[in-house]
Amino acid sequence: MLHPPELEHLHRPNPEARPIVELKGVTAGYDKSKVLRDVDLKITPGDFVGLLGPSGSGKTTLLRVILGAVPVQSGEVTVHDRPVRGRTNRAGYVPQLETIDWNFPVTVEEAVMMGRTMSNRWLPWYRKHEKELAYDMMQRLGISGLAKRHIRQLSGGQQQRVFLARALVSSPDLLLLDEPTSGVDLKTRDDVMHLLHDLNHAGVTIVLTTHEINAVAVHLPRIVCLNGSIVADGPPHRVITPHILREVYGAEMPVIQYHGMTLVAESAHFWMDRNGGEPIATVPDDSHREAVITHSHPTSSNVPGHHHHRGGSD
Ligand SMILES: Nc1ncnc2c1ncn2[C@@H]1O[C@H](COP(=O)(O)OP(=O)(O)OP(=O)(O)O)[C@@H](O)[C@H]1O
Ligand SMILES: [Mg+2]
Repeated sequence: MLHPPELEHLHRPNPEARPIVELKGVTAGYDKSKVLRDVDLKITPGDFVGLLGPSGSGKTTLLRVILGAVPVQSGEVTVHDRPVRGRTNRAGYVPQLETIDWNFPVTVEEAVMMGRTMSNRWLPWYRKHEKELAYDMMQRLGISGLAKRHIRQLSGGQQQRVFLARALVSSPDLLLLDEPTSGVDLKTRDDVMHLLHDLNHAGVTIVLTTHEINAVAVHLPRIVCLNGSIVADGPPHRVITPHILREVYGAEMPVIQYHGMTLVAESAHFWMDRNGGEPIATVPDDSHREAVITHSHPTSSNVPGHHHHRGGSD
């Protein structure tokens, strides 16, 4: 488990601290459409916030409002107590991979270096120590061997790490990540989440969006549920409830407490008991069949020195 509940107190937002990001009554969208309505949100230094909500609920828009990339129609956005006007470079931003133009002619190394250009825009060249910094970051994220490759010629997990490295080379104190774990395997997701937890412990404030309630959201100390406006905000055990999930997603999603963990049954194959609201699992008719497992890794039966003894025949 990435974030045991007993560590929660370490991350409790301190209401006394000056917020690093503050939205007051923010309504924002594109042209005349309103995507976010009357959003009030405070992000305090050291926060690690997971932003949840269905597709189209405005998660990306909210991150882009904080960056100053989407104009505010009414209300107020401040970052470090200063009103956000136009694009700000003060946050590290990892965009949703789907929104990136993969035909842009740029190598991994160049993409990562761009993270520095943002903060040193007036310099047309990179300093030696900046290149070293970029390489150091690529090394930490295990992508230094890919430095000369075009960003299109990478796997999804490698692409995520390139954009993470790009966001981190300017040593931001605020990181905004749009679905940093989507489309990557379990191991990469865990690596990314551990890296983010380390950064958070080192003092970086993090806001990430995710669709992965069980794998990501329940391990974060604070969850904000969005559906145009903010539906809920608090620690997972308070926010991840059937009532709130119904409100956010418009679907029945039973929540199970298991050994101190909050688990959401993100499945339509569940029915609610009409009386107690207890989830009753339904299983497919062929569930009695045993799963067929094709071993591609050593198992107890083919690992040397680990033999099955059948009837003493060997
Ligand atoms: N550049 C744009 N111009 C016009 N409308 C947009 C633009 N970007 C997003 N929208 C619209 O704003 C709404 C919210 O989009 P947004 O990308 O913020 O949702 P999201 O919560 O990030 O969704 P997802 O989970 O699919 O990434 C959607 O209806 C979308 O169609
Ligand atoms: Mg999005």
